[in-house]
Amino acid sequence: MKKIAIVTGASSGIGWEFAVQLDRDESFDEMWVIARRKEKLEELASVLKTPVKVVPLDLCEYASFDEFKALLEAEKPDIKVLVNCSGFGKFGAYSDIAVPDALSMVDLNARAPVALTEYSLPYMSEGARILQVASIAGFHPIPYLNVYAATKVFLLNYSRALGYELKSRKITVTAVCPGWTKTPFFDVATNGGTKKEVTKYTGMRTAEEMVTKALKCSRKGKDIAVLGLQNNGHRFLAKFIPYSAIMKIWDKIRK
Ligand SMILES: NC(=O)c1ccc[n+]([C@@H]2O[C@H](COP(=O)([O-])OP(=O)(O)OC[C@H]3O[C@@H](n4cnc5c(N)ncnc54)[C@H](OP(=O)(O)O)[C@@H]3O)[C@@H](O)[C@H]2O)c1
Repeated sequence: MKKIAIVTGASSGIGWEFAVQLDRDESFDEMWVIARRKEKLEELASVLKTPVKVVPLDLCEYASFDEFKALLEAEKPDIKVLVNCSGFGKFGAYSDIAVPDALSMVDLNARAPVALTEYSLPYMSEGARILQVASIAGFHPIPYLNVYAATKVFLLNYSRALGYELKSRKITVTAVCPGWTKTPFFDVATNGGTKKEVTKYTGMRTAEEMVTKALKCSRKGKDIAVLGLQNNGHRFLAKFIPYSAIMKIWDKIRK
């Protein structure tokens, strides 16, 4: 049985970096990389030493989950690591975000990780690790990122509760919560810079730093990975300050 790692969102940014660091620091018979852009996944495959299976899928489509399930049934791999990293956000007032975009955020950021995780679990055994890329946006409600932030609340809570249930199978689930991270995420979020609802990105970190932290936490079996003092302070304060006050503070500092 092939020991494999699966990384979604591997064509860019944080997901690409997960594939690179898993390839460098761990050992697998094969890595499955998933996203829509086949050519970017092939480019990634050409720089990894682990044999790669390029799996181009649009994870907003139900049919992709059937395809993923069929692939698992055909190959019956031993999944050692699953990283659900595909995701996107759109910044803007509710009235400026097209309904199909809002629904796609829910589909990709919330529905897809549930589908891939649940279909993968029968192929995981003791010692397997799941990483769900949520966000510090999951710590509280965020005006002008309202749907995006809500999808990350879902993913954060789903991950932590699932991790609790999987303790008996000795499978870990780490909710990875990046703060602002330098990737092409912002091209999509701001429509190429035309959306100005958020213009201050204090404490921007690199994908490399975030992924190093995430994998370290995952190897230790931690249920959450948050990078640095600023983001950990944010998490701590979100537990004690009422949401109504946090939303006012956010509204003052976002521009
Ligand atoms: N950057 C940040 O500041 C930040 C902060 C907190 C959390 N995050 C989270 O980190 C994760 C990765 O984002 P990133 O910063 O690395 O942004 P990114 O560079 O834009 O990467 C997004 C990835 O998602 C994939 N994707 C988008 N739509 C997809 C679809 N319909 N089906 C399958 N894959 C799809 C993209 O691949 P294709 O376009 O090839 O499909 C790409 O590989 C996301 O979940 C994001 O919410 C990012």
